[in-house]
Amino acid sequence: MTLILNRSDVLALLRVEDVIAAVEQAHIDLAHGRAALPAPASAILGDATFVAMTAVSEPAGLAAATAVATRALARPDARVLGLIGAGPLAEAHAHALSAVHPFDAVVLWGRTPARSAELAARLQKDLGCEVRVLAGPREVTLASDVLCTLTPSKDPLVKGDWFLPGLHVNAVGAPPRPDHREIDTAGVARARVVVDSYATTMHESGEAVLAVAEGAVTGEHFRLELGEVLAGLEAGRQTPQQITLFNSVGVGLQDLATARLLIDQAVRRGLGTRVDLAA
Ligand SMILES: NC(=O)c1ccc[n+]([C@@H]2O[C@H](COP(=O)([O-])OP(=O)(O)OC[C@H]3O[C@@H](n4cnc5c(N)ncnc54)[C@H](O)[C@@H]3O)[C@@H](O)[C@H]2O)c1
Repeated sequence: MTLILNRSDVLALLRVEDVIAAVEQAHIDLAHGRAALPAPASAILGDATFVAMTAVSEPAGLAAATAVATRALARPDARVLGLIGAGPLAEAHAHALSAVHPFDAVVLWGRTPARSAELAARLQKDLGCEVRVLAGPREVTLASDVLCTLTPSKDPLVKGDWFLPGLHVNAVGAPPRPDHREIDTAGVARARVVVDSYATTMHESGEAVLAVAEGAVTGEHFRLELGEVLAGLEAGRQTPQQITLFNSVGVGLQDLATARLLIDQAVRRGLGTRVDLAA
């Protein structure tokens, strides 16, 4: 039996706090070996890259990963959230991170001023905190306690020279391609890096592949996985002054956790359309 859920079903069924909890559990399951996450196979056809992200998880569990990482790695006294990029992912991040951490202000920059202003107005209304559009990525980085990069930029928008002590960075936007990155090599090298999956990172993340190719760090710099920190197997942030960086490629396990949650809720509430494809 196939269950079909339309957009309004999904919106009615998913609460951000439930997705965050499910994704957190999925990463803990991965750290304990109760889930498996092979490096994705990718196929390149002209300008297009197809990345098949597969995962299996033993306990039902399962994109809230940035919120989970921020809760684990940001300083408890972090008060300013910075967003670089003003698209759908930036808006979703502002909501998800505000659900797990008390921010007093949001600062943001996007390439298109009108789109940035519209996002700032919506966030100010939705989150009820001060939201300001700043002049560029440097200004946002310098003003932030927690910084999220949320653009498909191929070349680094953010330089490590701008990082102030205690900053937590979520590098999220770069598409899963080894020649794309938002954070330069200096930024990666200065930070204690936590990844969603080591195998996927070394396969798909420009932040890792290019920093290693430039000789600034070795693959060991990207060994620490989020699940190991969440499970208490390894330390996350070690000092208040340390710069931490969550390098998010996006893994199928997070989608699986969210899908599991969605199906369970839909069945419980009798929502969706059931189609018997074998009939
Ligand atoms: N890590 C993950 O798990 C994950 C999950 C989903 C999406 N993504 C990636 O996040 C990115 C952002 O998603 P979105 O839906 O908000 O996209 P979007 O196309 O709306 O772009 C977001 C913002 O980036 C800006 N932008 C685009 N190209 C730029 C460039 N070269 N330099 C500077 N700014 C640029 C846009 O103007 C916009 O403000 C995409 O690259 C997507 O692949 C990552």
